[in-house]
Amino acid sequence: MPSGKRLEGKTALITGAARGTGAAIAKHFIAEGAHVLLTDVRDELGESVAAELGDSARYARLDVTNEAEWKSTLAALGEQEGGLDILVNNAAVLLLQPIDQTSAEDFERVMRVNALGPFLGTRSALPTTSRGPAGRCVDRECRIHRLREWHDDNRCIHGLEIRSRWPNAGDRP
Ligand SMILES: NC(=O)c1ccc[n+]([C@@H]2O[C@H](COP(=O)([O-])OP(=O)(O)OC[C@H]3O[C@@H](n4cnc5c(N)ncnc54)[C@H](O)[C@@H]3O)[C@@H](O)[C@H]2O)c1
Repeated sequence: MPSGKRLEGKTALITGAARGTGAAIAKHFIAEGAHVLLTDVRDELGESVAAELGDSARYARLDVTNEAEWKSTLAALGEQEGGLDILVNNAAVLLLQPIDQTSAEDFERVMRVNALGPFLGTRSALPTTSRGPAGRCVDRECRIHRLREWHDDNRCIHGLEIRSRWPNAGDRP
């Protein structure tokens, strides 16, 4: 009998979920009946958060800037869960400092995590989220216009529902 929970039977992958907003989203999704794969580069913290969340949560290391890690993580998820219903591109780094104190390396690091990461994630997940029209991709923060256009194109091709959140710095969910 259906439980009335909105995410019953759904599998979600959340990036940057070892703490903060990502961990809070994981907790909320599990309360709504989802199975959640929490991913991050903070392995110790991620493992302990997943253990606290119980049997519906697992942790796996996934550096969102690494395409090979996206592929292997999604392949393993496909074998274990049969596919993916919801991708939350949450991982990001926030760099609030004057431009004259910011190096090209700082800038590149931010762009790799905040822009390349969601691009690789969305592109890698498309084949596994095509289980049906219920596939969803949520971007916490995509500041790149082109990424939004890709999303719009893919929404047409793959029937995905894609939601982008554009909050102000300092906002909390
Ligand atoms: N906190 C805010 O004020 C605020 C405001 C607006 C938007 N946001 C957005 O919300 C999201 C989460 O914010 P938060 O405050 O929870 O941040 P946070 O720093 O607490 O969490 C971000 C997580 O991303 C992980 N991460 C960083 N680089 C990674 C990588 N290469 N691969 C995988 N994981 C990586 C970090 O380890 C961390 O656990 C981000 O997209 C952020 O830009 C936050």
